[in-house]
Amino acid sequence: MIAVVGSLNLDLVAPVPHHPVPGETVLGGDIGQHPGGKGANQAVAAARLGGDVAFVGRVGDDDAGEFLVGAARERGVDTTCITRTPGVPTGRALIAVAPTGENSIIVSPGANSRLGAADCEAAGDRLRAARVTLLQQEVPDEANHAAARLSGGLVVYNPAPAVPGAVPPAHVDLLVPNRTELAALTGTREPETLDEVAEAARLLKGAGAVVVTLGADGVLLLEGGARLHVPAHRVRPADTTGAGDTFCGALAVALAEGEPLERAVRWASAAAALSTTRAGAQSSAPDRDEVEALLAGSGVG
Ligand code: RIB
Repeated sequence: MIAVVGSLNLDLVAPVPHHPVPGETVLGGDIGQHPGGKGANQAVAAARLGGDVAFVGRVGDDDAGEFLVGAARERGVDTTCITRTPGVPTGRALIAVAPTGENSIIVSPGANSRLGAADCEAAGDRLRAARVTLLQQEVPDEANHAAARLSGGLVVYNPAPAVPGAVPPAHVDLLVPNRTELAALTGTREPETLDEVAEAARLLKGAGAVVVTLGADGVLLLEGGARLHVPAHRVRPADTTGAGDTFCGALAVALAEGEPLERAVRWASAAAALSTTRAGAQSSAPDRDEVEALLAGSGVG
């Protein structure tokens, strides 16, 4: 089983000709409403790939919350550990997507910010039974620390989004930052070259292994003294929203199935690449056959 502790957001997505600079108003296209939130996206991606997934989170006691819980349940996620929080709005994300597929996001966490250690303790049976526990930074540190402590399996920590002052759990088995999040964690400038990425990742303490996602530059895996670069699959991106979440969900499925880390990273890279070719965060998550087909076509399946 995979336990995901994290956020659920209602994503309000507007296509824009370009991202606004401060003070600028940009006229965009018709707005769409989709289920999102890094935690929920990771849970849905893992379920779509065949994972047995339980989710721990909070929504408001409102229509948006009902919609998000229903969407996750329909996509095969066990939602019994999601709590309704009276008097607090469900989390929302305002997302602008440019023609290049690149997005910018404002998150209003709402009920996600009320998730605490008690929610994780109430879901202790799920966390203890999990082969993999997936965590991100859209819920309070307190919840993540409790989840890591209670987890009976591998703890995978995705420090996304980069939140100033966020403190990862004392020990995680696998840390999965992107360039920006790596810079935030290490207090260094954003690394550019693979050597700079590796140098910054070595500053991280308390993680068994580090997997840095680099978008079009692929993924860099650092474990012990070893380093492996997995190039990105060449695809035409339509919307990169949720690609990192699909990566984490897929990684969790492969690790829960006992795959070695290198194979899990290659599998997750293929899943993430496929997710960028379609719109939306959860609706773009691929199924198993698609991932296997892409890997077979690239000669690494
Ligand atoms: O990673 C993409 C997600 O970030 C969106 O679904 C949005 O809700 C924000 O949490």
